[in-house]
Amino acid sequence: MEKHIEIQVEGVTKAFGDHRVLCGIDLEIQRGEMVAFVGGSGCGKTVLLNLILGQLKPDAGTIRVADHERDGALLVNIADLSGVELDGLHTHWGVVFQMNALFSGSVFDNIRLWLHEVKHLEDEDILPIARDVLSAVALDDGDVFLETDVNSLSGGMAKRLAVARALSMRPEAIFYDEPTTGLDPTSAAQIQDLILANHEQRKASACTTIIITHDKDLLNRLAPRTVMLHDGRVFFDGPFAEFAASSSPIIRPYFDLMPVLHLGANADG
Ligand SMILES: Nc1ncnc2c1ncn2[C@@H]1O[C@H](COP(=O)(O)OP(=O)(O)OP(=O)(O)O)[C@@H](O)[C@H]1O
Ligand SMILES: [Mg+2]
Repeated sequence: MEKHIEIQVEGVTKAFGDHRVLCGIDLEIQRGEMVAFVGGSGCGKTVLLNLILGQLKPDAGTIRVADHERDGALLVNIADLSGVELDGLHTHWGVVFQMNALFSGSVFDNIRLWLHEVKHLEDEDILPIARDVLSAVALDDGDVFLETDVNSLSGGMAKRLAVARALSMRPEAIFYDEPTTGLDPTSAAQIQDLILANHEQRKASACTTIIITHDKDLLNRLAPRTVMLHDGRVFFDGPFAEFAASSSPIIRPYFDLMPVLHLGANADG
């Protein structure tokens, strides 16, 4: 039934000059699902995310998303939305970008900006939310930390702050682009638990979780529906257990070589 779909991608193609990145993507994500996008580096995962977010336009094809601004959250074609309407839609989504995309300023400034600009909350209402989400990601929720300059945070702390900022919006759909890449084992495990806990807690409200990842350990723990991009297309779309057990000559070597990321990664920084 249409009203349960969060994201519907039909025949989407995207090239940059001669470089055809996506050659016909079809994908439907239901509200409340947890979905992982996997595939080799450069296969177009982040490009697909940016298309879904409306930050890139497809060359062909259609992307429809649930319009949480209206009762019933019926699908809208994002190509039909004005900038203001797209901004309205974004108030229902949380994104943890691959590069974190923290603003310069303090920890509090980073959590405050969207809550103030988008949800029009004042500092007195933002402060308890900030403390809440910081403690949820196992960061210090005291005044000194809230005033800390984000440039002085380690890579792992910055990643957790980016997650906290996304959670603070109480989004209906949350997107994580490589949330554990470059983290030490403890931080990576915390982020994995956090993604799972947030998804489970919000099950009643059908919060949709989309994770782009190279982290085999994350996949093993969360066992999401797995979507593998390969050669510009959806090569696999199904339960993680089926993906992990696949003997496909494309999937098997990819999966076997897929790192348990944080074991080989640099520590927190
Ligand atoms: N704005 C752009 N202009 C030109 N080429 C781009 C642009 N954005 C992405 N690309 C190209 O599109 C391809 C897919 O990029 P994308 O960032 O989606 O890869 P990815 O699957 O997210 O890889 P990774 O796992 O390394 O993050 C790459 O070859 C990249 O160079
Ligand atoms: Mg990427």
